[in-house]
Amino acid sequence: MYKSKIAGIGANVPENVITNFDLEKLMDTSNEWILERTGIHERRFITQPTGAAELALPACIKAVKNAGINKSDIDLIIVATLTPEHQCPGTSSFLQVLLELPGVPTLDIRVQCSGFIYGLSIADQFIKTGQYKNILLIGVEVQSVGLDLSTEGRDLSVLFGDGAGAAVISRSYNDSAILSTHLFGDGRYAKDLWVEAPVGYQNPRISAKMLEEGKQYPKMNGKHVFKHAIVRFPEVVRTALKANNWTIDDVDIVIPHQANQRIIEAIAKRLELPLEKVYSNIHKYGNTTAASIPLAIYDALNEGKIKNGDNVILAAFGSGFTWASAAVRW
Ligand code: COA
Repeated sequence: MYKSKIAGIGANVPENVITNFDLEKLMDTSNEWILERTGIHERRFITQPTGAAELALPACIKAVKNAGINKSDIDLIIVATLTPEHQCPGTSSFLQVLLELPGVPTLDIRVQCSGFIYGLSIADQFIKTGQYKNILLIGVEVQSVGLDLSTEGRDLSVLFGDGAGAAVISRSYNDSAILSTHLFGDGRYAKDLWVEAPVGYQNPRISAKMLEEGKQYPKMNGKHVFKHAIVRFPEVVRTALKANNWTIDDVDIVIPHQANQRIIEAIAKRLELPLEKVYSNIHKYGNTTAASIPLAIYDALNEGKIKNGDNVILAAFGSGFTWASAAVRW
């Protein structure tokens, strides 16, 4: 059995900053409402038509460089996204072309907010068995073009933003390692946060009537999602602690999926962790779904909040419902 580690990280967000005040011009909302309920000041939206693969590419190039490998060393490309450019094939196919890596296997995974940790777990298994040495794992979202930015969609659309984060997962020859991953799901709650159309069981998959009814937009039972999130996040962190014989005091930093500042604060409180140990950058990017954890790792590293040898816990919860954690020795 080999060990895997996060060997390199990269990020890319659109330059276009959308503040809460910009949203006030599109819908009946206010900076105060958004800040108080979510902690979000601003998010990034693409301006030109930019597909998920295009947004991901600069993040991938940075991650490969940061890992000190050549892109030709990549054995597998895994993309986590809920906003692929097309229904079929997945974003990883388009990204592989942009990376000029013909022949390298491509895999899209669809577990929304938990996508990066699910992808980390998949990559970890391939490295452990010795099948692959270097895997490029991307979390990317182009959400802005798919949101209902009218007052009708305001409960959800003020939360989300565009962005990409990439990681190179490589065989480890030192103490740095992915120590454990734990994945969970409960499809009974699938419709609490979902995009209904296009639907796969009718012809045509999307109709004028469905568009009129707004079925192409994501819908959320916000209170229900919140209620589950604040239970599942601490639970899945504790699962990681137990698997590694750690107490909460052994943890240097928790990097949670950036869903909502109130959820992040609830995680800190329930785990009895000081807020400084639960990383947050949601104020500047909003919720970037699959991209949020690699974007948070990227920023935390740049801010000196993750150092070599640190015990790091990644945790996610979201649509599906899915939730997951990973314990990482940096
Ligand atoms: N701006 C202004 N008012 C808004 C609004 C917005 N963007 N969105 C909703 N409102 C209104 C509602 O219409 C409601 O008005 P009413 O009382 O007249 O009916 C009022 O604000 C309160 O809405 P409510 O839904 O009770 O707010 P809330 O306190 O539950 O907060 C969320 C809403 C979405 C912020 C909160 O439920 C949440 O954070 N849920 C989890 C979401 C999440 O993290 N999702 C991603 C998971 S990965």
